[in-house]
Amino acid sequence: MAIGVFDSGIGGLTVYSSIIEKFESLDVYYLGDTARVPYGNKSEETICRYSLECANFLIEQFDISCLVVACNTASSFALNFLRSKVSIPVIGVVDPGAKQAAYFTKNKKIGVIGTIGTIKSNSYSKSIKNLDPSIEIYQNPAPLLVPLVEEGRINHKITKLALKEYIQPLVNKGVDTLVLGCTHYPVLKEEIHKLYPELILIDSSLAVLPEIEKCIDLSGGDTAKRLIFTTDRTEAFELLKQRIVGDIKSEKVDLKEFV
Ligand code: DGL
Repeated sequence: MAIGVFDSGIGGLTVYSSIIEKFESLDVYYLGDTARVPYGNKSEETICRYSLECANFLIEQFDISCLVVACNTASSFALNFLRSKVSIPVIGVVDPGAKQAAYFTKNKKIGVIGTIGTIKSNSYSKSIKNLDPSIEIYQNPAPLLVPLVEEGRINHKITKLALKEYIQPLVNKGVDTLVLGCTHYPVLKEEIHKLYPELILIDSSLAVLPEIEKCIDLSGGDTAKRLIFTTDRTEAFELLKQRIVGDIKSEKVDLKEFV
């Protein structure tokens, strides 16, 4: 049994890493669309088109039984579109993250940070309100965090400044829970925790695991194949890959034939 995971680029390796740690015996394949990242500032139409190409590659090459959309932006815009186009279960990261946030908040005030696209889509807000309309939601796009993570500036004063800039206004509103609504943000979890130890942090790379468990058959196979594909090779990808998942082999792929 195989799972396919895709993201607009590198950040989804946080989700990939959680999946391979939890489902040790399954084959798990990752595709990072590094040639076309970021998705966070693209139109819905483009995000849907790119997402379908990523899905087709994983389905046609590896006969996966479950597709995980690790990218928050793609989960916000392309989930229903993908579900209408492919015949396997498609799991996004937004609903699982929203569910955990609604469960953990005590004062019913939740903050959400994400790409400009994710925040504009109101995907987290809608999903949380669906679960509990009385919860107050405060959102802030945090676009600078993606390049900072990709540059490896994790424990850096510029990153701390950016984190305060984006998170403090939400803390001022009284939120007790913060959704890390972008693949890259779990890499900054420790830094956020140091700045705001009182906040409950919702990490979608972990929130998605129970949803995956529901739609896979854990009894089948123990080959545990791990392969990472990217649409472009960049130094940033190699460095971050090493930091998040270590030595897993990565290959470059051309998505033209999966359009
Ligand atoms: N993977 C994207 C997300 O989680 C962040 C990077 C991008 O903008 O493509 O929203």
